[in-house]
Amino acid sequence: MKESNQVNRRDFIQKMVMGAAALSAGGILFAGCKKDGKTEVSPVEDLMGEHGVLERLLLIFDELSNAMAAGGHAPANAFRDAAGILRNFIENYHEKLEEEFLFPRFRTRNVRVDLVNVLQAQHDAGRRVMDGITASARLKGEVPDPRRTAERLRAFVRMFRSHMGWEDTVLFPAFRTIVSPSEYHELGERFEDREHEKFGEHGFADTVERVLAIERELHIHELARFTVAG
Ligand SMILES: [Fe+2]
Ligand SMILES: [Fe+2]
Repeated sequence: MKESNQVNRRDFIQKMVMGAAALSAGGILFAGCKKDGKTEVSPVEDLMGEHGVLERLLLIFDELSNAMAAGGHAPANAFRDAAGILRNFIENYHEKLEEEFLFPRFRTRNVRVDLVNVLQAQHDAGRRVMDGITASARLKGEVPDPRRTAERLRAFVRMFRSHMGWEDTVLFPAFRTIVSPSEYHELGERFEDREHEKFGEHGFADTVERVLAIERELHIHELARFTVAG
């Protein structure tokens, strides 16, 4: 990987937070935590960055499902790689953080329990859908039954876009209010340790790079391509 891409997510976000804090009069634009004079990344900022990775995976699944629905060839490698990142980084890491550190605290405090139950059911449903598609893809060496798979992928993408929207706008802001400042800061550190343990010091940047490689294969790697004609 290029030196320039070896950016630790926290170094990157810390610089952004410090820049924004310098611009905002009270330095309170971001809810970053300060310890020993150093700005740290909060647990919610961490989770929202991971949502950015998930959104890019959903764009890949969009592209693959469009190709399949149109009866075209959907590259099995791109699907397999995107499903692999989804499993390792989103299902087995991001969703586990939510399930281990956020959902139980909402349940214990009896806050937004209905929402938490729906979010948990969607994590479970997402795993079942992706298990079903990847198991038959492994069996046949290609993405099976393209039209049916396209339908399942579209439903999957729709579910996770609304899932992230509710987490970003309802669950995460509420989370900040149900834990003490010290617990909130401590969770930021635990999330960082967990990420380094599982993916290494540059785990986030490396994951983004792997997503970019799939986007390149599908020719959707340039953000400018998504700009509408004005
Ligand atoms: Fe979630
Ligand atoms: Fe999430």
